Amino acid sequence: MYFKLKNRFPAVSLFTALLLSFSPVPASADTELTPIVIAHRGASGYLPEHTLEAKALAYGMRADYIEQDLVLSKDDHLIVMHDIYLDKVTDVAEKFPARAREDGHFYTIDFTLNELKRLQVAGPFVPALGRNTPVYPGRFPLWKSRFALATFDEELELIQGLNHSLGYNTGIYPEIKKPYFHHAEGKDISRAVLETLKRYGYTSAQQKVFLQSFDAEELQRIESTLMPELKMDLPLVQLIAETDWEEKRVKVNGEWTNYQYDWMRTPEGLKKIAGYAAGIGPWFPMLIEEVSSGAGLAPNTLTERAQALGLQVHPYTFRADPQQVPESIGSFEDLLALFVNRVKVDGLFTDQPDKVRDYILSRSISSQSISNHAER
Ligand code: G3P
Ligand code: CA
Repeated sequence: MYFKLKNRFPAVSLFTALLLSFSPVPASADTELTPIVIAHRGASGYLPEHTLEAKALAYGMRADYIEQDLVLSKDDHLIVMHDIYLDKVTDVAEKFPARAREDGHFYTIDFTLNELKRLQVAGPFVPALGRNTPVYPGRFPLWKSRFALATFDEELELIQGLNHSLGYNTGIYPEIKKPYFHHAEGKDISRAVLETLKRYGYTSAQQKVFLQSFDAEELQRIESTLMPELKMDLPLVQLIAETDWEEKRVKVNGEWTNYQYDWMRTPEGLKKIAGYAAGIGPWFPMLIEEVSSGAGLAPNTLTERAQALGLQVHPYTFRADPQQVPESIGSFEDLLALFVNRVKVDGLFTDQPDKVRDYILSRSISSQSISNHAER
């Protein structure tokens, strides 16, 4: 890959977050033709990721969908957080110093919900540099105010409650994190996620939901076994990683090794994915390439090939923070212009849903004014 950006790390009351967040920006009138805005870990560019406050802010910014990364606790509660470790977003090292495993990590799955609720949430920060070095220095200051981990149930009740009180229909976009790890720990996280979704009324695409995972074999199991058993038919999204990110590990000859992701971007691979999924979620640099003439970056064929098979394309993660836009592209707006107007993606995961929404809205207003002008 010619540049490396994916950051793997990536109390304000709920009421305050909502009050601060509502803008008079209307929903786009042209939703079929415009890409969806997916709030990545909530409005995580402004408040600690995956907190209920970050989700309320994303809701107020009128994201179309709000993302939930999910892992299991020791007592089988689904917790909304990105890593299977607590290290980068909580004060677990201070509150439970003796509870790290031999590898030095504090695993969410080793803690009960009661224990997890005692943790303070901040960041993300860089644990190797101490708890006061933020991954994104311009974001909400570390350890200020009071934030907590949330359960999946709590978050679904928040979003459904806001849908009820405000009359919008904001969707959800849960991700099952590391099924291979949960299976190795004796837990079936996919079944737990599906049962929770069903309990809250999410059983098909009609309820505005996508279910995503980096694990192709687990998505196939969900499609062929779990969903038929539970009488569900959710649209699935196959996330695509680089092999060396360790998103999925498999045992080969008794040794844990990285799952090979390269097949997913081949024509045969895309056809296979189209057999069980409604879309793909690639890292955004996977959709562009350098143009040999020196004319910068241009779309490669992946989006077009996927869309021709009926797959939606929802790349991640669009971040407006300094150093998060490839130098060869320039500004965040230029990045959005490339992916919205030229790559023509169907949706964007972003830490700054307000900026992506504003961009899409301004684009649709300017195309409307061009067409009005043409009619005269
Ligand atoms: O799920 C889309 C995007 O969030 C994938 O990356 O590592 O942030 O979950 P990650
Ligand atoms: Ca995710």
